Amino acid sequence: EPEPPAPVPRSRSLDRLRKAAAGCQACGLYADATQTVFGAGSRDARLLLVGEQPGDVEDREGDPFVGPAGKLLDRALVDARITRSGVYVTNAVKHFKFRRAERGKRRIHQKPDAGELAACRPWLRAELAAVQPEVVVVLGATAAATLLGRAFRVSHQRGQPHSWSELAAASPLTSDEHDDVGIGDDAMVVATVHPSSVLRARGMGGDQGAAAYDGLVSDLTVAAHL
Ligand code: URA
Repeated sequence: EPEPPAPVPRSRSLDRLRKAAAGCQACGLYADATQTVFGAGSRDARLLLVGEQPGDVEDREGDPFVGPAGKLLDRALVDARITRSGVYVTNAVKHFKFRRAERGKRRIHQKPDAGELAACRPWLRAELAAVQPEVVVVLGATAAATLLGRAFRVSHQRGQPHSWSELAAASPLTSDEHDDVGIGDDAMVVATVHPSSVLRARGMGGDQGAAAYDGLVSDLTVAAHL
């Protein structure tokens, strides 16, 4: 059964967009999530960062990247000499997707599927059109898939600046949608790992956590200097 289109107003006001997104039922995820977690930050931001979806803490608090992955991202931004006030932070999907642990109340993150990414993509497009970032930072494979297409490999292409227009052909955005975003042809995209993957690498012990963190900071530093 086709999903109804997301009721995205044709507006470049982040406040208007946020209010409209609060009522979005374009996919089924709204039913179990606490609230829509829209992007946060200034419309004057030079950098726009895209994650996957809100986690457990974000779902309860209503803001992106305020839980454990967000704390790690905050530190990595500082180490990359990027001020959080100069960035706009958002997610590919704006509702938390989870399943319940068999015992207890713990909510376990589940990856959004292609239909959920597609249903939410109009909101991401609207945020890009409102902020007009000079640099888009793609955090992890889900954000890469929704903006750059399934063929993009974060592991191989991370840390490399690509122009927004160069990536258009492989993007799931139609060329009209791509043009509609209105980002300048000289805008750049840099992909890197998701901060949650750094947390997982830390959990494995040894040097892997430190190496993963340094890799994230190094990719963010590339973005900061574009
Ligand atoms: N992970 C994400 O991708 N986004 C958040 O907002 C929090 C955790």
